[in-house]
Amino acid sequence: MPLSRVVAVSLAALSFGFFALAASAVRAQQAGDLVGDPERGKIVFRSIGYCVNCHGWPGDGKTGVLLQAPAAPNLRETGLDTAALIEVIGCGIPGTPMPYHDRAAYREGRCYGMDLSDFAPDSEPVRGKTFSDRDVANVVAYLQTDVIGRGEPTFAECADFFENPDARACNSLK
Ligand code: HEC
Repeated sequence: MPLSRVVAVSLAALSFGFFALAASAVRAQQAGDLVGDPERGKIVFRSIGYCVNCHGWPGDGKTGVLLQAPAAPNLRETGLDTAALIEVIGCGIPGTPMPYHDRAAYREGRCYGMDLSDFAPDSEPVRGKTFSDRDVANVVAYLQTDVIGRGEPTFAECADFFENPDARACNSLK
């Protein structure tokens, strides 16, 4: 290859890399730019992402968690801000049972600067259901509206969560 072509090809590769990076940076901001809907986020928390299995319906890490679920932290007491919540939900927490949900997680360094190929096969981050950026924004809005800073779960909250005051899960709070 003549030198000028080599230069042109590598410049093209470089600018492709640059645009790919710029594009992922733009994508990375999207969930944060969307205004989340807490009501829809509740559905993500309850029945799309099954966050309840490990974090419990109130997010406290104990109430109504699945018997075989790993111990999960109390989200009512989390100190994470919006950006950190988006990152943890999108990227999960490698080396723990907290799954990732972003469809582009661990590509192009999008999660903690790492790709799936950086992990040994038996230590790859756990994959959850795939969320759209809107799902992520919605579940973050739900956490910020109805979970974080809420103290101990109440009967009213439970009845509201299950949309049914007679839900069995709420009996112990009556
Ligand atoms: C399979 C169990 C499991 C599921 C399902 C799960 N998580 Fe987690 N989550 C964990 C565990 C375990 C941790 C703590 C990991 C660690 O740092 O050791 C965690 C950590 C978190 C944190 C960080 C809290 C903090 O203060 O550091 C957030 C936020 C979170 N989860 C939200 C969610 C949301 C939202 C969903 C549903 C989309 C979800 N999790 C689904 C197990 C789970």
